[in-house]
Amino acid sequence: MSTAIAHPNIALIKYWGKRDDELILPLTGSLSLTLDVFPTTTTVTLAPDSAVDEVLFDGAPAGAAERIVAFLDLVRGLAGSTTRARVHTRNSVPTGAGLASSASGFAALAVAAASAYGLALDDAALSRLARRGSGSACRSIVGGTAIWHAGSDDDSSFAEPVAGPDLGMVIAVVDAAAKPISSRQAMRRTIETSPYLPAWVSSTEADLAAMQQAFARGDVTAIGELTESNALRMHAAIMAARPPVRYLAPQSIALFDTAARLRADGLEAYATADAGPNVVFLCRGADVDAVRDAVAADPAAGIAPDRLVAAHAGPGAHLVEGAA
Ligand code: DP6
Repeated sequence: MSTAIAHPNIALIKYWGKRDDELILPLTGSLSLTLDVFPTTTTVTLAPDSAVDEVLFDGAPAGAAERIVAFLDLVRGLAGSTTRARVHTRNSVPTGAGLASSASGFAALAVAAASAYGLALDDAALSRLARRGSGSACRSIVGGTAIWHAGSDDDSSFAEPVAGPDLGMVIAVVDAAAKPISSRQAMRRTIETSPYLPAWVSSTEADLAAMQQAFARGDVTAIGELTESNALRMHAAIMAARPPVRYLAPQSIALFDTAARLRADGLEAYATADAGPNVVFLCRGADVDAVRDAVAADPAAGIAPDRLVAAHAGPGAHLVEGAA
């Protein structure tokens, strides 16, 4: 029996688009912060007497377990095993918050399954394995800030730590009126139909290079400006797909305005958003509580204090039970 814990990560430079759907090789590199909130805990137990994999979420049979079974098949292939497994995943995300993360889920599963099947993998190999479950999961293998190198093949596409200033985040949980389509589907549609895709790819490559320089300088202002702009460019490319996909809600836009107001008042905070209406404020680690309080106090943001979650840099995915 092997148990692993992993945390979600939020990208400062986004991953949006694959050049290989099977291997999950991205069109560009990306860069993220792994958080210390909303951990996923996953236990993998080998079940030699079972003819099928059993997948439980918070103790109940999982509805859509195909991706997890496909991932276990990959691990079995590496281990030369045909033994089935029991997977039990517990998420700490408040239900309905729209924050259930495939990144923490597949990072925890990669670490627990590799251990259960007796694979001795280093961090780069674990990151490559997690990537096959969900691209962004390769970054949750790494604690704190991580860069996912796009790479040229399976071997060279993985995440590793990147040194930089202490950063924090405040997550604003926005209610979604309509259920958006999955990021996997929307990514494909963006590639197939958005005329802005080539500009997204070329400008993200430039943003990533500039971001690495900003990290090396410890330049939080440049890091924040690149983060906010890169997120808006991603959403612009997505919105330009046909049929259009729009993840940002009116309140999401209002929260981007809040970030600008905080900056005008001398508190550095920058907004970003993934494939959903939630907005995440990036700031200095030391400013997290001040940013949370300032967002809560902005009437135009219209967000209740209990929907703001303060987060700092968190650990990479790790075993808590079982052999490495
Ligand atoms: C907007 O990693 O969930 O959060 O590889 O298809 O599983 P798949 O996609 P996923 O996409 C994450 C997209 C994003 C940006 C990011 O995290 O970089």
